[in-house]
Parts: sequence; structure tokens; C-alpha cells
Amino acid sequence: MRSKRSKILGAALGYLIFFVTVAVIISVAIAVYVSAEKKFEGNFGMIFALMLLTVVFLALVCIVIDVVRRKVMVERSVQKILDATGSIAGGDFTVRLETAHPYGRYDEFDCIMDNINKMAAELSRTEVLRTDFVSNVSHELKTPLAIIQNYSAAIQSKSVDENTRAKYASVLVSTSQRLTALVTNILKLNRLENQEIKTEFRKIRLDEQLSESVLRYEDRIEEKQLEVECDFDEITINSDPDYLEIVWSNLISNAIKFTEPGGKISISLKSDGAAIVKVADTGCGISKETGEHIFDKFYQGDTSHAQEGNGLGLALVKKVIDILGGEISVESEEGKGSTFIVKLRSAVL
Ligand SMILES: Nc1ncnc2c1ncn2[C@@H]1O[C@H](COP(=O)(O)OP(=O)(O)OP(=O)(O)O)[C@@H](O)[C@H]1O
Ligand SMILES: [Mg+2]
Repeated sequence: MRSKRSKILGAALGYLIFFVTVAVIISVAIAVYVSAEKKFEGNFGMIFALMLLTVVFLALVCIVIDVVRRKVMVERSVQKILDATGSIAGGDFTVRLETAHPYGRYDEFDCIMDNINKMAAELSRTEVLRTDFVSNVSHELKTPLAIIQNYSAAIQSKSVDENTRAKYASVLVSTSQRLTALVTNILKLNRLENQEIKTEFRKIRLDEQLSESVLRYEDRIEEKQLEVECDFDEITINSDPDYLEIVWSNLISNAIKFTEPGGKISISLKSDGAAIVKVADTGCGISKETGEHIFDKFYQGDTSHAQEGNGLGLALVKKVIDILGGEISVESEEGKGSTFIVKLRSAVL
């Protein structure tokens, strides 16, 4: 965008050109009057006609110059903008406009074009995300639906004995539970992204909430014979407990899922002005490449292909932490384990 000083200079130059033009027309008219009076002494009609002709001619010349100026400086840009916005409205988000001036010397038209370019880029990014999202959801739905179809067909078969039938029925139950979890997570993420869920901040004893979250996973912890170490300071914060529960349940369930039987999970809560929660495990760890994507929707690292899940957990966690005003980071070494660190800025009381 042009600076305020150059804008004022531009406007002053415009006025100057206007006054000079008027002055030139008046001067030429006076000169014509003086020489015409000498030539056509007393013939007022002739003098008047000559002066009128001169003024009209000069005014016409100025109008032509102004029309050409407008065509070059205004209409060309307006037409470019009209064409571009027309294409965007028609769904073509690849449109990009070339500004007339380099960055830093932008005039108003350049600014509008630059904004249109940014708008089109954002729209095409959203479009890619939308189509990716739809294809990811369809992909994630396909596998459980195929399992449900095959197993329910098998259950109907007369040749299947009671034991096998019971086994198939339990596969059906767990698969439909996974399907429900997937749909619930998609809906939650969607509501969070559209900011449909309002936060309700209140005072919470964070240590108590974390203890309850760990207890909820007691069965799975026992099943995998994991050692769990909790070290919680008594901390009360002002935050939304339902939102926070999404964070703790995903971090704890990941730690359980990605740690081999017999491993160890350590969860701590400390305060250094902000509340700091660490969820550490001695599991498979996260490679550098995987670490760059773990907060993306539907992303699952190589190590998790054999595991349950859809890669939505950490995307939800990140969204929630952004909404609550906090930070999440991860430290990990492949084969040794991972530590997720959550920092909540919400007032520690
Ligand atoms: N504690 C952990 N140890 C090792 N890898 C992890 C850990 N937590 C997350 N990851 C990696 O990050 C990926 C994304 O995690 P996320 O929780 O989003 O998905 P998920 O657990 O695979 O599926 P879902 O959460 O939908 O059940 C995982 O697939 C895994 O590769
Ligand atoms: Mg998960």
C-alpha cells in the first residue's frame, strides 16, 4: 500500500494538473480574444464564436486525455478484478491477479487484487481440506462397514456353530463401537472447528480431574500390565472441565495404546505460573517425520497401523488446547518413549 505521504502528494498533483489545465484554457481563450479583437474590430459575434470554439476544442482535448488515462489506469484494473471475481464465484480458485506496482508501492487497486489473490488461495486450501476430509471419512468408514457386512452374513449361515457365532457377535459389537467412536470424534471436531460448542469456564481441581481420567483406564492398564506413576500437585485452574477431559483421555489412551505390555506411564502435574501436565510413556516413540503430522486430522504414524483408531485424537486435543488458550508439545525418541507436555495458561488459582 502507498504511504500516506505519497497519497497526499498524488492528490496534490491531481489538483495541480486540474488548475494548470483550467489556467491554460483561460490563457489561450484570452490570447484568442486579444488577437480576434484586433482582426474583427467590433464584430462581437465573430469574436464570441471563435472563443467558444477554442474553449470547446481545448475542453474536448482534455476530456480525451482523461478518458485515455481512465482506460489505462482505472478501467483495465476494474475489468481484471471483475473477471477474477467472476471466475472465483464460478468455483475456479486458481485465479491469481498480477498487480500493476511492486509490493510496497501498491495503490488501492493493487491492494484489492492482492486481497483477491489471498482469498482465492484460502478458498482453494479449504476446498482441498474439504475433499481430503470427505475421502478420509469415507475411507475410515469403509473398513468397519465391510467387517459388519461380512460378519453379519457369516452369523446367518447355518453351518456356523454357537461358539463361532458368539465370537462373530463380539466382533460386531466392538466394530460398531469403533464406528460410533469415529462418528462421535468427527462430530466433536466439526463442532469445535465451527465453534458451535461454547466454553464454560469454572474452577477445577486439575489434580482430581487427572486422577479420575487415569482411573477410567484402569482395566486397560491392568490388561497390559502397565506401571503407572502419578505425581500431581494440588492445582486449581479456571477452565472448561469437559474440554479438558477430551485432552486427558486422548493423551492417556495414546500412552496406553502405544506402550508395550509391562511398560511404564508417568503422569505429572506441576505449576510454574501456568499449569503443566506431562504424560510420558516408555512406548514405541515417534519418529521426526511422524512428529510433524501427529496433530493433523486422520494422520496415523506407521507404528499405529496395527492399532485401533482413526488418527483424530490428537487433532481434537490440539483444537481444544487452542480454544482453551494453551500449548502442547511433544518430546520423543524412537523406541524409547514419548512425553506430551500441555501448558495451560488459564489462571492458576
Ligand atoms: N504416546 C504415543 N506414542 C507413540 N506414538 C504416538 C503417541 N501418541 C500419538 N502417537 C502417534 O500419533 C498418531 C496420531 O495420534 P492420534 O491420537 O491422533 O491418532 P490414533 O491414536 O492413531 O487414533 P485415535 O486417536 O483416533 O483413536 C498416532 O497414530 C501415532 O502414530
Ligand atoms: Mg489417539
